[in-house]
Parts: sequence; C-alpha cells; structure tokens
Amino acid sequence: MQRVLWITGAGSGMGRAVALSAAAAGWTVALSGRRAEPLQDTASTISRSGGTAFALPLDVQDGAAVAAARARIVAEFDHLDGIVLAAGVNTPKRRWDDQEIATFHDVVATNLGAVATTVDAALPDLRKTGGVVVVISSYAGWSFHPGAGVAYSASKTALGSLVRTLNAHEAASGVRATHLCPGDVATDFLDQRPNVPDAAARARMLTPEDVARTVQFVLDSPAHVRIDELVVSPVSQA
Ligand SMILES: NC(=O)c1ccc[n+]([C@@H]2O[C@H](COP(=O)([O-])OP(=O)(O)OC[C@H]3O[C@@H](n4cnc5c(N)ncnc54)[C@H](OP(=O)(O)O)[C@@H]3O)[C@@H](O)[C@H]2O)c1
Repeated sequence: MQRVLWITGAGSGMGRAVALSAAAAGWTVALSGRRAEPLQDTASTISRSGGTAFALPLDVQDGAAVAAARARIVAEFDHLDGIVLAAGVNTPKRRWDDQEIATFHDVVATNLGAVATTVDAALPDLRKTGGVVVVISSYAGWSFHPGAGVAYSASKTALGSLVRTLNAHEAASGVRATHLCPGDVATDFLDQRPNVPDAAARARMLTPEDVARTVQFVLDSPAHVRIDELVVSPVSQA
C-alpha cells in the first residue's frame, strides 16, 4: 500500500523539495498552499517522473478548507501516513518599533495557529496509521534570534511546545512528531527580510534539498522511532 503524505507550503522552497523527495521515495503526495499554479507545477514535475501527486490549494488559516482537504485525501486514498507543515510567513517590519499588530496576528495565525489546525484535522487518520508529523519550524524556534522578529520568533518558539505536547499525548497512538529547525535556507522566504541577502550570501546557505533530505530521513525512520527535534544549519551560520 502506497504511503500518503500531505504537505503544506508545497509549491515552493522546502515544501516543494520535500514533495519531490518523498514522491521519489514512493509516497503519494497531496500538495497544499494558497497559489494553485506552483502546486500544479510541483504535481506535474512529480507525475512526469512517474510519481503520484495532486494539488489541493488552500489557505492554511481557513479551518474549513483544511478539513475539506483532509477529507478529500482520505476519500481518495483511504488513509494518511504523514504530514509535513512547511507553510509559513514573516514580515520585513518585524521589530517592536515598526511592526503592525495586524501583521503580527497574521504571522502567528499562519505559523502557529494553522499548524495546530492542520495537525488537529489529520490526527484521527494519523492515529490509525501511526503517522509521522514534521513541523518545519526555524533556528529561531530553537534558540533566541531577535532579528527574526517578534511574531516569527514567538510563533516558531511555540512550535517546540506544540510538538512536545503532541508527542507526550499521542505516544500511545504511535503518532510521532518532529520539531525541525533549519538555519538559513536559500529560498524566496529571504525576500521578506528587512535586508535581503544577495546571491553570494545565499550560496553559503542550505538548499531546500538539504532540508528535504533531513525530512526524508524522518519519514523513512521505522514506526517505533521518534525524532523529537532536529537542528540543521549551514556551516556558515553565525
Ligand atoms: N528560508 C529560510 O531561511 C527558513 C529558515 C528556517 C525556517 N523556515 C521556514 O520554512 C518554511 C518553508 O519556507 P521556505 O523557506 O521554503 O519559503 P517559501 O518558499 O516562501 O515557502 C513558504 C510556503 O508557505 C506557503 N504559505 C504561506 N502562507 C500560507 C497560507 N496562509 N496558506 C497556505 N500556504 C501558505 C507559501 O505558498 P503560498 O504563498 O502559495 O501560499 C509557500 O509555498 C516556513 O515555515 C519558514 O518559516 C525558512
């Protein structure tokens, strides 16, 4: 039976790289994000290589849409074996002296609230399969990085607690969750920084494929193995 993986943020960056890697390893992948076009592009790339992928565009802040996507996956494939939560945002105006509070709430709603919503929607299915959850958090969720911003640091730090409670409460059901904390990764995400890194700086960072390889290690681990937390950074990271 083909294992089924649901990935948010799957149209770009790490989410896309995870989708390509998991599909190559034989997983059927369901791809979510707001923009349909990059999701479709990821799905087509996978299909051309002989894999199985389909796009489920949605805004992760929309709980009804998340529930509907989960229902479609299970209706189509009958089971769900894993979720990778890569959808995330930041904002250039991220300090106490320049942030807008509405944007603070939007960043927290995507980076934290929507992760809880998606895990909650998928949990009944993951309990049946002893499924795996990979939460793409951040270096800023592992150690204190004020430059990452008020909302981003707070939301990513909270993901550590979310994963730990998930593992504590769901151990008996066999659900395993990983708090994955990447350092700098050369993706479009960097365009949201107040000082956007140039090509030379990006060349020293991790690639999305570096992170996908780490996620694949988690996905491939036997069902009795839980990888609670992983920190992956480029050697250049200060
Ligand atoms: N790049 C880094 O240096 C770095 C380091 C550590 C952690 N991270 C984290 O890694 C994750 C992936 O980021 P990335 O670097 O791969 O950048 P990315 O390419 O910008 O990926 C972010 C993804 O999130 C999706 N997304 C954002 N808001 C969404 C929403 N409301 N609903 C559904 N999807 C949404 C975006 O797709 P749509 O715009 O189409 O919705 C996009 O595909 C993020 O959680 C980020 O915080 C990044």
